[in-house]
Amino acid sequence: MSVLTRSADVGSRTEEASAPISTRGLTKRFRHQTAVDHVDLEVPAGAVYGFLGPNGSGKTTTIRMLLGLIAPTSGEVTVLGRSVPEGANQALRRIGALVEGPAFHPYLSGRANLARLDAADRYSDPRTSAARIDAALDRVGLLPAATKRFRAYSLGMRQRLAIANALLMPRDLLILDEPTNGLDPQGTREVRHLVGDLARDGATIVVSSHLLAEVAQMCSHVGVMYEGRLVSQGPIDDLQTGTAHTVRVETTQPADASRVLTELGLVDVSAVGDGVTGTLGAVAVVGILPRLVHAGVPVTGFTVQQPSLEDIFVSLTGEGFDVSG
Ligand SMILES: Nc1ncnc2c1ncn2[C@@H]1O[C@H](COP(=O)(O)OP(=O)(O)OP(=O)(O)O)[C@@H](O)[C@H]1O
Ligand SMILES: [Mg+2]
Repeated sequence: MSVLTRSADVGSRTEEASAPISTRGLTKRFRHQTAVDHVDLEVPAGAVYGFLGPNGSGKTTTIRMLLGLIAPTSGEVTVLGRSVPEGANQALRRIGALVEGPAFHPYLSGRANLARLDAADRYSDPRTSAARIDAALDRVGLLPAATKRFRAYSLGMRQRLAIANALLMPRDLLILDEPTNGLDPQGTREVRHLVGDLARDGATIVVSSHLLAEVAQMCSHVGVMYEGRLVSQGPIDDLQTGTAHTVRVETTQPADASRVLTELGLVDVSAVGDGVTGTLGAVAVVGILPRLVHAGVPVTGFTVQQPSLEDIFVSLTGEGFDVSG
């Protein structure tokens, strides 16, 4: 049973009127530091939006402002068509969030923990509580462990319980801050699959991470934070196609090959070993081989390389990401 049944009116309103999340000039200054610096987020309806960035780049601070947990120094936040913090209460009903996991009671079972949290939610209906709790537990695969005490849960189970808590009510938007933090590869895979399932049910999902590989595998869109600024944002495919490809020609005559590539308009042409590389730019790939052959260059190998996402993020942020998943 799906716990993500969205009501028709809220769904159409968010899709037609505005993106589920939109910020303008969002800024948060702490005493000595600008943690979030003029960020314009745009999270489209139905997206799985990977909110990426190294440690300390401002992801959690941004998320806390989206949820009305802290006030921005300046800038505007609109979530599900409501201004935050003014309309936060209306918007929050439709948002499931995982930020610094909720306080679970170690001696209560997973199910009893959810019952406590559901009872504390002023919008929840106590008459449907038991059914909603079991549906959420089922959703994250914890139903078999529902009666186990929380302290006996593995790290992955604890994280899944936190996600179940975000799913107790019907949600249009899920905001998960580092949901795979501290999980082993198996736990990470489980969370990834869960995010995919939830997205297929129609929720818009923001999932933050400092692990590039994780986000690349589950997201339709990415936003990259670096030192408080949003340095890139858009569909993940655009990020790769929008970046210059590299061509490599294997040949016994690198000097001639270099000349041809340069004439064609490739840039950064350089001879490396038994080959020549160049950056494509606006030059069409199909014209290259015929020109090399016409010029009498013996070509023993020809490859077009797309930069890896890792390369792109390094070029955006000037530093490497942890790519281990
Ligand atoms: N309450 C606070 N008071 C002062 N500085 C803060 C506060 N909260 C965050 N910061 C600072 O703001 C910067 C951004 O922190 P934030 O937690 O948003 O980063 P993050 O991208 O979520 O990092 P991580 O990947 O480690 O979770 C950091 O330098 C942090 O030290
Ligand atoms: Mg954080």
